[in-house]
Amino acid sequence: MSQFWKPGTERPRLIDDEEGGVLFYSTSALSSSSSGYGFASVEKQRQRLPVYKYRTAILYLVETHATAIIVGETGSGKTTQIPQFLKEAGWAEGGRIIACTQPRRLAVQSVASRVAEEMGVKLGEEVGYTIRFEDVTNTDLTRIKFLTDGVLLREMMDDPLLSKYSVIMVDEAHERSLSTDILLGLLKKIQRRRPELRLIISSATIEAKKISSFFSPSKRRQALQTEDHGPNAEPAILSVEGRGFNVEIFYVEDPVPDYLQAAVSTVLSIHDQEAMGDILMFLTGQDDIDAAVQLLSEESRNGRNQAGLIILPLYSGLPRADQDLVFSPTPRGKRKVVISTNIAETSLTLEGIVYVVDSGFSKQRFYNPITDIESLIVAPISKASARQRAGRAGRVRPGKCYRLYTEQYFLKEMSAEGIPEIQRSNLVSSVIQLKALGIDNILGFDWLASPSSEAMIRALEVLYSLGVLDSDAKLTSPDGFQVAEIPLDPMISKTILASNQYGCSEEVITIAALLSMQSIWISARGTEKELDEVKLRFAAAEGDHVTFLNVYKGFIQSNKSSKWCHKNFINYNAMKRALEVREQLRRIAQRLGIVLKSCEGDIQVVRKAITAGFFANACRLEPYSYNGTYKTVRTSQEVYIHPSSVLFRVNPKWVIYNSLVSTDRQYMRNVISIDPSWLREAAPHFYQHQQPKPIAH
Ligand code: CDP
Ligand code: MG
Repeated sequence: MSQFWKPGTERPRLIDDEEGGVLFYSTSALSSSSSGYGFASVEKQRQRLPVYKYRTAILYLVETHATAIIVGETGSGKTTQIPQFLKEAGWAEGGRIIACTQPRRLAVQSVASRVAEEMGVKLGEEVGYTIRFEDVTNTDLTRIKFLTDGVLLREMMDDPLLSKYSVIMVDEAHERSLSTDILLGLLKKIQRRRPELRLIISSATIEAKKISSFFSPSKRRQALQTEDHGPNAEPAILSVEGRGFNVEIFYVEDPVPDYLQAAVSTVLSIHDQEAMGDILMFLTGQDDIDAAVQLLSEESRNGRNQAGLIILPLYSGLPRADQDLVFSPTPRGKRKVVISTNIAETSLTLEGIVYVVDSGFSKQRFYNPITDIESLIVAPISKASARQRAGRAGRVRPGKCYRLYTEQYFLKEMSAEGIPEIQRSNLVSSVIQLKALGIDNILGFDWLASPSSEAMIRALEVLYSLGVLDSDAKLTSPDGFQVAEIPLDPMISKTILASNQYGCSEEVITIAALLSMQSIWISARGTEKELDEVKLRFAAAEGDHVTFLNVYKGFIQSNKSSKWCHKNFINYNAMKRALEVREQLRRIAQRLGIVLKSCEGDIQVVRKAITAGFFANACRLEPYSYNGTYKTVRTSQEVYIHPSSVLFRVNPKWVIYNSLVSTDRQYMRNVISIDPSWLREAAPHFYQHQQPKPIAH
């Protein structure tokens, strides 16, 4: 059926890590079936999970050690069970709270609601969660709190010792997200001041040794610790034995030209030829997931096997109801196909998966400190990720994993492990947070993995030019502290501050709220033309930011109607969330003394405010450019206006972009036209050596 590859007709390629042999996930006698799940009582289900056998051991280690590192395969029950064990053992008594951090927002919401359900309590009471712009906790009632690592970092600004928490579980540590790394460095400091605090670091892979030696104190301190009978400061490591089944690995014979098409064909072949069992497909992001959902629906409708396939997307930003579908048991006689980002790699466990289709790619952040360009790139995953993905197929019975890359590629070219995010990120936000927490010597900070000094210097440079840091690299008052207070990228925060002077805080806050959504448009393959036409209704000559204002106005005038959104290809859920974010930002702004004021249609001041925050992203159209080539003013990189922008093909001489995406080229997303004279006005010291010159056309 597939023009690329037919699973089933292939000789099975067997691997044992690097060489031949089946990839073994340790098996157990435990028998469960996909339909068996859901019948057992909650307590029975809990007892079946591998961590259950380690309950006493885990509680003992937490009691006796300042830091416990728990390694266990995905789905063994670390995230959902350990916080409950701690609560049952009394760690939440006396008003204390047990925290569990996750790198991903969707995982936070999902595990919190699962734990609330298991405990039979209402979400937001005894069990709650907090993600940026959404706090579902109760100050008096919440005892177990799930939150993103980023939110916990923010909490340190008000409560530097995180004193309300008795135990902090840093989950998914193997992901090495930017915030996890920074958090671990700071928690190590807090431990010295709060010997009663317990840390649990949990991970799906054996990064444990590195983290263990990171938390290992010096010999002298250890001696002191023993004297006062405090917990052992040396970290304890516990490995939870998994219970996965064998997963047979298949590779493509030749590289596939289009992983999306190949993935769709593979799913159809599996459905055609293989026994029942759900399929999990790993793609990279909302756009290719939506495209795959559509392709698969069309293909299965046209083909013989339309019956029985339930096609479900899974990515962050998905509405609640759609998330729940992914977790609901598959009806008898049906087969679920979950098409996911790498959120299903280790953060979330789906029951009933027997087949995994691995595209070999994920969306990753890359930052180049030389060009100062950070972009989200679809990049090859590591071997460690490939193994995790394969493992998802062996949860309920022996499974199969179809890799859409060659065995040769896996063995010879795939890197063993991913690079920690801190070494491939722009550090502007991190530096400002550390500064706000009083960590002045950033270069000397105790990093789990050091970021490059170039990236650090770039960050300091940008913050200095934003007026957030002074020449001694200290936060300025009040600007620096205010920018640090706003939970957004410092450039947007600075724009909000600037809007106060320009009298357009209402507009700028609206723009900031809409920009913090992944996308407010509904895009689907085949409807691009209609979407483009609809966008023209809102398009503003000045650019996308102003277009956002028009959309917002229309939404409010429609009385926040979902019908209106639908008619205009606007994502209703995103708009509703944007309204909430907007309200929160207005409250924060007021707290910072910003006067809420509208410029009443004087859009020039809005553009000036944006320039005040984003001058570092200024670009100039190349003289005599016929294909819309721009160059960044700072580093002379070639960039182009993204086709989704209302300024695509309009190509004003000077623009400022909000972010860059890389595909075949560097594309600017969310672009606004500016007057070059505003740049020097906004950042004289930044542009003194690189004066923007007017161009002759
Ligand atoms: O953290 P770890 O990967 O070790 O496992 P977990 O997330 O605690 O998952 C334990 C069990 O809870 C699995 O069987 C999951 O399928 C289930 N679970 C669920 O049914 N719904 C959720 N939202 C989260 C977990
Ligand atoms: Mg987990």
